[in-house]
Amino acid sequence: MSPTPHRTQVAIVGAGPAGLMLSHLLAGVGIDSVAVDLRSRREIEETHRAGILEQDSVDLLVDTGVSDRVHRDGYRHDGIELAFGGGSHRIDFEGLVGAATQLYPQTDVFIDLADARARDGGDVRFEVTDVEVDDLVSTTPVLRFTDAAGERHEVRADFLVGADGSRSLCRRQVPEAERRQYFREYPFAWFGILVEAPMSAPELIYSHSPRGFALISQRTETLQRMYFQCDPATDVADWSDDRIWEELQARVGANGYTLKEGPITSRTVLPFRSFVQEPMHHGRLVLAGDAAHTVPPTGAKGLNLALADVRVLAEELERAVAAGDPAPLARYGERALARVWKAQHFSYWMTTMLHTLPEASPFDLRRQEGELAAVTGSTAGSTYLAEAYTGWPGQR
Ligand code: PHB
Repeated sequence: MSPTPHRTQVAIVGAGPAGLMLSHLLAGVGIDSVAVDLRSRREIEETHRAGILEQDSVDLLVDTGVSDRVHRDGYRHDGIELAFGGGSHRIDFEGLVGAATQLYPQTDVFIDLADARARDGGDVRFEVTDVEVDDLVSTTPVLRFTDAAGERHEVRADFLVGADGSRSLCRRQVPEAERRQYFREYPFAWFGILVEAPMSAPELIYSHSPRGFALISQRTETLQRMYFQCDPATDVADWSDDRIWEELQARVGANGYTLKEGPITSRTVLPFRSFVQEPMHHGRLVLAGDAAHTVPPTGAKGLNLALADVRVLAEELERAVAAGDPAPLARYGERALARVWKAQHFSYWMTTMLHTLPEASPFDLRRQEGELAAVTGSTAGSTYLAEAYTGWPGQR
């Protein structure tokens, strides 16, 4: 049986936050799109990711009519705590750069976007299989997939977008001779938990200690998110609730904090990786979000970068569609990469400043404390951190 043919302007592989936000922004300027994802809507909703939105990300959700739930259900954070050397030091974002962040989990961003696309009649297909992209260097690239009911489809489009995450199929379609890949691996991971307990502190605590890094984050008044640095080969089954609490309390206790404990309802190990593929376009294919770049989670830049990508991409795709010409896609890549590399540096810097290397010597630990003291003890150092964490206000 030959596949059912379709025609659209932009075909999007990946219906996570990047793909859905792009499809929403394109609909706003009258450009139609089809978005597909291998996962079910439920599966994406149940994947826990980071929870911090930059001001620009909040504005994008609210100003484009996705949802104002971020203001109602999120928590505004005007700063973070950097804990090290037996004490804690606040970085005052509001005072230093006049900006704030919003605690609002990625799963909620996804739910808001999926609801907005459904409300506006967007064409989004979850649980597809056998995705193929082809004819990228032609005037009508093609997306093929089998839908959840088993029917095969062929979508001809003017442009194709790979917003298909860190294991992207689309980025592998760029011929090796035409792409550069930049990698960095780290010898540690995060053990992430969800806890039914009240908040232990009003803002996030990034805690350095000789036993390793810990991050105390939050979700709601009754549900908290916490992480501690671990070996990437860690098996969550080896960690009882008691053992987890002992480790977390020891790490933050070294800096004067005591955590409010409760039942642990979820535990996962999150890998660490820095990755960029350049350029972000090939023929009529463009990459967005994790498909083009991955950051380690320290500093929560992943989702923010994906949203920043698609905001620029929607503008350049509008030009490309109007002109029937892929040239604006190169401009998208240049604009997006400027921010991507700043965020790569920031995520790498936060990671290496706060985590303990497996072979760390007493010198390494004292040097990190010196670095943290230099950052927290100077307006220049704190301002750099505040500016990067809240998302480079100069670019707004
Ligand atoms: C989270 O709440 O999941 C979170 C917050 C800040 C980070 C990373 C993760 O830097």
